[in-house]
Amino acid sequence: MRASIRTSAPARHAAMLGIGVYRPRLVVDNDEVAGLIDSSDEWIRTRSGIERRRWAGEDETIVEMATAAAAMAIERSGVDPAGIGCVLLATISNLKQTPAAASEVATRVGAVNAGAMDISAACAGFCYGLALAGDIVRGGSAETVLVIGVERMTDLIDHRDRGTAFLFADGAGAAVVGRSEEPGIGPVVWGSDGTQGELISQDHSWLDWRDQLAKDPSTEAPALRMNGQPVFRWATVEMAKVARRTLEAAGVDVADLGAFIPHQANDRITQALAKSLRLPPTVAVARDVVEQGNTSAASVPLAMEALLSSGEARSGDTALLLGFGAGLSFAGQVVVLP
Ligand code: UT7
Repeated sequence: MRASIRTSAPARHAAMLGIGVYRPRLVVDNDEVAGLIDSSDEWIRTRSGIERRRWAGEDETIVEMATAAAAMAIERSGVDPAGIGCVLLATISNLKQTPAAASEVATRVGAVNAGAMDISAACAGFCYGLALAGDIVRGGSAETVLVIGVERMTDLIDHRDRGTAFLFADGAGAAVVGRSEEPGIGPVVWGSDGTQGELISQDHSWLDWRDQLAKDPSTEAPALRMNGQPVFRWATVEMAKVARRTLEAAGVDVADLGAFIPHQANDRITQALAKSLRLPPTVAVARDVVEQGNTSAASVPLAMEALLSSGEARSGDTALLLGFGAGLSFAGQVVVLP
């Protein structure tokens, strides 16, 4: 016997209703990181555009930072937290693997009726979460979804590694996604390439480290390593193609854009992408990496908030988001800014 199954009522459109951020208290300038890696303020500025970054203190945990960003997004969106149907938290630096940070954050912000899970898609994590949130709302599985990108990259890196120590940083950003009258989140263009996984990767698994530690107590904990040059080339060449495909999928021309908000990996990558896309000067280009460093999954919402709060972009503007990083994974979508 086969019963007829009732399905949830779909919604026509979804959009970001509000965003929030958390920037850690401690500001660290280039001179402070340069010493350990035989670098200089000038080298770091020239090669990456970074002038300073923020590092989380002990009390600024993944859950604390995510909760602060999420609470701000909920307040700004004006939704009742008890009505949030799902919490998606993107991170690669939560070193407490289970339970998912998402469920603790959901409880703390009052999303007591929400399903909750963590997403691992590195620097593309927020854009993956946003794509899923849009589909969950449109599919009818939840009326509102909370998406968070949060990282403590300083726990994952080796502070003596010249290729990563000056680059990565900490923070959190969040968005509430809900039903809307007009389309606010365009089709996602995403992908991954496991053949290039070693380009940005933890150097050992925790299991290998544990075995090694038993033999040699001075064995250091696993750290994130990056082969910067090929990643740089991939980001400037391949991500320009992904950006064009994302605009095409949404039926939006560069002339219609108010803002371009790529993952804040390196300001040279952002400028190369902007040039390749031939963005008109009217498009505000996110440069939060200068102040914030590379915060992986948190970088896109942090950069979005920075453009909105500085007035360079406005609520209602059309923006192109583009996340990319370890995997190598990527996700882009055209959105309407909340
Ligand atoms: O977020 C995930 C995605 N990540 C990215 O998209 C990051 C992509 N990669 C990058 O942004 C860049 O590759 C970096 C900013 C990480 C590095 O810049 P680069 O221009 O690719 O530097 P490089 O590794 O090619 O090194 C150039 C030179 C070398 O010296 P020689 O051989 O030219 O004499 C390095 O030894 O700079 C030297 N160098 C440094 N010097 C001072 C490398 N690292 C440093 C350093 N400080 N930290």
